[in-house]
Amino acid sequence: MSTENASASSVVEDSAAPGQATRLEQTNPDYDPNVVVETQNLTKIYRDFWGRQKVRALNALDLEVRKGEIFGLLGPNGSGKSTTIKLLLGLLFPTSGRALVFGKNATEVTKNERIGYLPEESYLYKFLTAEETLDFYGRLFDMPAAVRKERVESLIEQVGLTWAKRRQLKEYSKGMTRRIGLAQALINDPELILLDEPTSGLDPLGTREMKDMILKLRDQGKTIIMCSHLLADVQDVCDRIAVLYQGDLKELGRVDSLLQVSDETQIRAKNLPDAAAEEIRAVIAKHGGEVLSVDNPRTTLEELFLDIVRESQARPGHRSSGVDSN
Ligand SMILES: Nc1ncnc2c1ncn2[C@@H]1O[C@H](COP(=O)(O)OP(=O)(O)O)[C@@H](O)[C@H]1O
Ligand SMILES: [Mg+2]
Repeated sequence: MSTENASASSVVEDSAAPGQATRLEQTNPDYDPNVVVETQNLTKIYRDFWGRQKVRALNALDLEVRKGEIFGLLGPNGSGKSTTIKLLLGLLFPTSGRALVFGKNATEVTKNERIGYLPEESYLYKFLTAEETLDFYGRLFDMPAAVRKERVESLIEQVGLTWAKRRQLKEYSKGMTRRIGLAQALINDPELILLDEPTSGLDPLGTREMKDMILKLRDQGKTIIMCSHLLADVQDVCDRIAVLYQGDLKELGRVDSLLQVSDETQIRAKNLPDAAAEEIRAVIAKHGGEVLSVDNPRTTLEELFLDIVRESQARPGHRSSGVDSN
């Protein structure tokens, strides 16, 4: 993981100031086990070699992530998502404010034994096979050989790579690399899983499968923080999201309530005759409402695409009737 920092060679990281260490080591006396992550006024300014301020990557972030939820950090490139994740892992030191993970200061690396991390860029050794890779990480966690073997097999199966487990990672596609990255993040059976752009580079099928794997992890009681710049990914899997823009928190809340348009009402019906639709329009008008639309609901492009793929797998060579011939 330290390679993450090494890549930022032109920048000198802020190190903990003298006298700060004891404070950093302290755990929070008001620790609530249902709050897995808490950030208070968390700020990160990257500095250049001479210590001059360079980029304010994260500005006074306050958030709480609760046990068992999928929390999304959403924002365009450069909005501070990866910086937040690295601060939670203790790979970076905050410029001010603090982050608590399991009630401990994020700079305490021992807490990382309970965390799984999928970085934005894969850093796995490409001459190892999937099995060897996971075995290597199992050894790092001091797992006995028998436990390791079983865990490696079950993780490879969980991420759908059994068919390719003896191939070297250099032969893996981007999608397969993301899968083995996820398996590696799960080797220590972590309680908290940090996923940095988990669907990056995946095609729609791979994306759907990754999302399903994330939802399954939540069903197993894990807490997940994922960041993404892809709106659909976040909308489909996250319980709550924080929207970041240029390091500032712009919006925080439950996805369903953020997306709900509270002054509009949607009525959906099947097999409704035109006359009945007219009657409904009249009822709405009678009550002083305004009809905005009466039409067939739209699906998402992702759903449509997946339907087409499923249909063509079930009936090869058949053209879907829903597809316009124009
Ligand atoms: N090591 C670094 N040194 C200097 N600036 C950095 C470094 N890492 C990230 N940044 C800058 O901090 C901002 C936030 O970056 P990042 O957290 O990676 O955003 P995101 O993950 O949302 O795309 C960006 O402007 C980026 O250029
Ligand atoms: Mg990033």
